[in-house]
Amino acid sequence: PRYSRILGTGSFLPADRVTNQALADRLAADGIETSDDWIVERTGIRARHFAAPDQAASDLAFPAAQAALEAAGLVAEEIDLIIVATSTPDMVFPSTACLLQRKLGVHGCAAFDVQAVCSGFVYALTVADSMIRSGAANKALVVGAEVFSRILDFKDRTTCVLFGDGAGAVVLGASSEPGILATELHADSRHVDILCTPGTVSGGQVLGSPLLKMDGQAVFKVAVGVLEKVARSVLDKAGLTDADIDWLIPHQANIRIMQGTAKKLKMDLNKLIVTVDEHGNTSAASVPLALDVAVRSGRVQRGDTVMLEGVGGGFTWGAALLKY
Ligand code: ACO
Repeated sequence: PRYSRILGTGSFLPADRVTNQALADRLAADGIETSDDWIVERTGIRARHFAAPDQAASDLAFPAAQAALEAAGLVAEEIDLIIVATSTPDMVFPSTACLLQRKLGVHGCAAFDVQAVCSGFVYALTVADSMIRSGAANKALVVGAEVFSRILDFKDRTTCVLFGDGAGAVVLGASSEPGILATELHADSRHVDILCTPGTVSGGQVLGSPLLKMDGQAVFKVAVGVLEKVARSVLDKAGLTDADIDWLIPHQANIRIMQGTAKKLKMDLNKLIVTVDEHGNTSAASVPLALDVAVRSGRVQRGDTVMLEGVGGGFTWGAALLKY
């Protein structure tokens, strides 16, 4: 049998680390009131990184991809598929994956973006896994890269305190050993409106709002329910149970959603990888960023069973269960 396996991970955060207090001070200058206490208590976020004005998604993706290639012991020429998950692409087109391919100094391999908001990385990983298992690709670079700071409404304190910028990457390679054990993706478009950036570019203008809008409580309710269900479903497919999970790496949106999911899976909270405190919600970048932090800190080890979970706008969600 042919499987896909993670050969290496990498990540990158832009230099500007903004604490809650620093953000509160910036917002206060515009008459918007918030506090470190409120943000920490409701979300678990203490700081986030914001890209510089001249840094686009592909600029964050590039160093993350280089780190993942180095960890895998590969050079970019050996990659035959590049998938970038992003909802904040550099341009309308070409895709951020094509721009990343150019930065990597290679050409010829397939490259495209996947847009599933905060579930984007799990979607992209699932597509890459399918293409590798079918023989359509041998070595894939799968990246989540976002600059959500570009679409935040800094006059809306209920959303602008939640998000940050960053990128995470994995190199996935064909293997006779698993690897990715099971994946599952979902979308429920009845919830399009609870989390969206509804504007678009048309006729030389931005039509509609180019800023993120969210009904936080509605998102919270949908997220907690679907994350437990999809985790159990991929465990079933792999013939495993809750107790087999060594590490849970959910989308890093909110500590309460993450801990709620871990409790439902009867997991010890120290098996939950948490980076939301330092990264905020980096949308499609959050899962590969957290995976890379967990690998480089020595927590996730070769042979460990890891559950990745994404959930976000669409509404979309999904899970990937793997042996690291
Ligand atoms: N600072 C201070 N006060 C605030 C802030 C802020 N930044 N934001 C809102 N408030 C106030 C509100 O105005 C409200 O005041 P009021 O009671 O006087 O009206 C009060 O705090 C409570 O607001 P709620 O919206 O009820 O707060 P809640 O406890 O629901 O927390 C939150 C809001 C954190 C957004 C929560 O709903 C949540 O976590 N939702 C999940 C959404 C999420 O994580 N989204 C991430 C993107 S989606 C994804 O990635 C899946």
